[in-house]
Amino acid sequence: MLIKRSPNGIELPFSSEITSREVYESRRSFMKQIAAGAIGSAALLEMANREAFAQGVNPKLAAKLNPSYSALDKQTPYKDATSYNNYYEFGTDKSEPAMYANTLKTRPWTVTIEGEVKKPMTLDIDALLKLAPLEERVYRLRCVEGWSMVIPWIGYSFSEIIKKVEPTGNAKYVEFVTLADKKQMPGVGSRVLQWPYTEGLRIDEANHPLALLTLGMYGETLANQNGAPVRMVLPWKYGFKSAKSIVKIRFVKEQPRTSWNLSAPNEYGFYSNVNPEVDHPRWSQASERRIGEDGFLARKRKTLMFNGYADVAPLYAGMDLKKFF
Ligand code: MTE
Repeated sequence: MLIKRSPNGIELPFSSEITSREVYESRRSFMKQIAAGAIGSAALLEMANREAFAQGVNPKLAAKLNPSYSALDKQTPYKDATSYNNYYEFGTDKSEPAMYANTLKTRPWTVTIEGEVKKPMTLDIDALLKLAPLEERVYRLRCVEGWSMVIPWIGYSFSEIIKKVEPTGNAKYVEFVTLADKKQMPGVGSRVLQWPYTEGLRIDEANHPLALLTLGMYGETLANQNGAPVRMVLPWKYGFKSAKSIVKIRFVKEQPRTSWNLSAPNEYGFYSNVNPEVDHPRWSQASERRIGEDGFLARKRKTLMFNGYADVAPLYAGMDLKKFF
């Protein structure tokens, strides 16, 4: 992944620590124009939406905390979780998704589920919200770049989808295909990755109760920059496995190609389980820094095997995790 470094090799400060000039300017001009009575109602609504977006106010989403799947770690402040993001469809800089993802239209939205299933279906976002009881789960998410966050996500186990569509005996893998629309996503014009961003899991991984089909965070629907309206969160894997803004889910026979694996196969494997003993070719994975809590030059936490989610270990029994990284 592209890590931004200063010329002396030190990582640059978090964008979340710098007030976005664009947000600041747009707020000032919004207030001035309202005061001058210069804005019509449609424009007012549009600007109010942008203002709400800048402040991270999304519709509320009720969910019951699932304590058995929740980490007790201190939660990452909302401001950090929504301003330090990887979402290359909106730019490669960590601050860009928060600045540009307001162009993403998250309604209407459908997810098509197809391939090796007895009951293929297309579900809209309201159907997905009602498919199973929503749970809040506080998960650690560890990025392959060496930072982590602790976020109260809202959703339900992906196994609920699997039950509903009834995979055939040929379904060995699940492929997640995400939106790639140049009109809404300025980064899709770039060649940094092959679009659409795709990810995949073995079907038994997808069926593990920890694999979360995610529709919200912090008591609200997902912020656009975090992958609204629907994404995966796989807390035992590096963050790039958790595809954002999913439009298609395919049950397939063969292991699917995935965007990061296509771009650098020796750096980003299909499994990408968090593993402090298997270094990335360009950096160590033994430690990490917690966004919003540790100082930006610190790298002091020890990274845990499977990011601390030891429940998943049986999925990989007998596998050489250095080979299947
Ligand atoms: N999904 C899409 N569609 N596009 C992306 O660029 N980035 C991935 C993952 N999902 C990405 C994506 C990476 S590298 C990480 S670390 C996580 O999203 C970041 O999720 P967050 O911004 O909610 O912390």
